[in-house]
Formats: sequence, structure tokens, C-alpha cells
Amino acid sequence: MRLERLQVELEAPVARVWLNRPEVRNAFDGLMVTELRTTLFDFGTVDAVRVIVLGGRGPAFSAGADLEWMKAAASFTREENLREAQAMADLFFTVYNSPKPIVARVQGAALGGGCGLVAACDIAVAALGTQFGFTEVRLGIVPSVISPYVVGKIGESAARELFLTGERFEAVRAVEIGLARAAVPPEDLDAAVEGRVRELLQAAPRAIAEAKALIREVAWKRVEDVQRYTVERIADLRVSPEGQEGLRAFLEKRKPSWSP
Ligand code: COA
Repeated sequence: MRLERLQVELEAPVARVWLNRPEVRNAFDGLMVTELRTTLFDFGTVDAVRVIVLGGRGPAFSAGADLEWMKAAASFTREENLREAQAMADLFFTVYNSPKPIVARVQGAALGGGCGLVAACDIAVAALGTQFGFTEVRLGIVPSVISPYVVGKIGESAARELFLTGERFEAVRAVEIGLARAAVPPEDLDAAVEGRVRELLQAAPRAIAEAKALIREVAWKRVEDVQRYTVERIADLRVSPEGQEGLRAFLEKRKPSWSP
């Protein structure tokens, strides 16, 4: 697929996906939503790709939904309007549900849906000075399709404050509330991201996908309701080829086959 809104760099085992509309601070319109969803979905199916890094070209990670595009929804039919909103929801779910770990590389600004993308990624590393914010209420709308991912990461207390005020906050606060995992000087951002990538490459590829599914399955549930699932997962995975290789490698004091 020819990409107009993204740049993709594939250096297996790492795929780097760049939002590439810097003139509007990587605000996403329908085309960017489609390109990003398709690209991330496709990388999810490629064995050679073990980690995806999502970043934004130019001064900002992403200014969220393209406000011109949102405004234009007034001329859509209800069905068209629902279809576009569904496409955005599908994008966030694709990020969240990818079998590959996705690291967000965040600089400049991550606002509205841009902040939602950060929340849907597995690990976010931010440059100090980045502006975060769920600014939607200041525009008369709500952080709707991103809310499950954001509330999952930051919890209800911080969501009540930040969704209701729409205020902007800094990278250090993003770390405190669990939206980002690290805030580093801008000149150290790439090294910090590479550090996360290196750690992820130590993990077995199928085990990472299973660990993501495990978190999704057990989050917010009663132990009694998920215990059978957790028992089955460990019973299946410790006898799987990957599980056996990892256990043997440890006992034989060697690196497992997937280790770089
Ligand atoms: N949708 C559409 N266009 C946007 C946009 C958005 N979400 N965010 C920024 N732009 C456009 C600006 O209108 C401007 O266009 P222009 O050059 O034609 O005037 C261009 O991007 C650059 O924006 P500017 O504000 O001049 O850049 P900056 O680097 O000083 O600030 C931001 C960047 C992201 C901090 C600032 O643009 C901003 O606060 N944007 C609003 C983000 C927002 O609230 N998003 C929530 C969406 S739900």
C-alpha cells in the first residue's frame, strides 16, 4: 500500500511507524486512521517483526483528531458519522490488541486522540516538555473512543480530573499517572526507546503476545472468574516449543533461540 500519511521503516525485527503529517502536528484524518490501522494490523501478522515503535515526525507526536475533519462531520449522515467514529475505535483497538509490543516515542505534544494512541500502546517513553492533555471538553466533545484505554492506564481518579478539566499536563505527570513509563530529556529520547526495544527483544515472541492477551483477559475481573483461564495458559505454554526452549536455555546456561 502506498502511504500518504505515514512513513514506515522496517529493519527486522523492529518496525518503526511514523505519523507523517507534521504540518498539522500529525493530526489524524480518515486517511491516516485507515493507513495506521492497516499498517499496524499487517505488522501484527509478520513473524519477522517482533517490536513496533510508533512515533511522530516533526515537532509533535500527535495533536489528535484533525479538528477540520471532526467539524466536517456536521455534513455527514448519522450512518456516515457512525462509520467514521467506528473507524477510529477500530484503530485504537488494533493498537491495543496487536500481538506485537508497541512502544510509543512521544515528543512535543500528545493531545486528545494523540494521548489515546499513547494509552493504547504498551509502553510510552516521553521527552520532558511534552504537552499531554485530554482537551476534548474544551472543544465541546468528549474523549470517547479512547476512554477505555486511557481509564485502563490512568484509573478513574486521574481520568475524572483530566477528562473534566481538559487541562494540559507535562511528561512527569504523565509518568506519575501511568500514561507514560519514562520521561527523559529530549536528546535522550531515542536511546530510552532503544532501551525498551532491547528489553522486549529478550522476550519470546509468542510469550509476548500471550502476555498481552493475559493482561487484557484478567484486567478488572474477579480472580474466581479468570483463574481457570490463567491455569490453562500456563499449562499450555510451559509445554509449548517456546516454553520448553526458554526453560531449557535457562537450565543449560545459554541464550534462548530468540535472543539477539
Ligand atoms: N487538527 C487540525 N489541525 C491542527 C490540529 C488538529 N488537532 N492541531 C494543530 N493543527 C494545525 C494548526 O491549526 C496549525 O495550522 P496552520 O499552520 O494552518 O495555522 C498547524 O497545525 C500548526 O499548529 P500550531 O498550533 O501553530 O503549532 P504549535 O507547534 O505551536 O502547537 C499544538 C502544536 C499541538 C500544541 C497545538 O496545535 C494544539 O494545541 N492543537 C490542538 C490540539 C487539540 O486540542 N487536539 C484535540 C483533538 S480532539
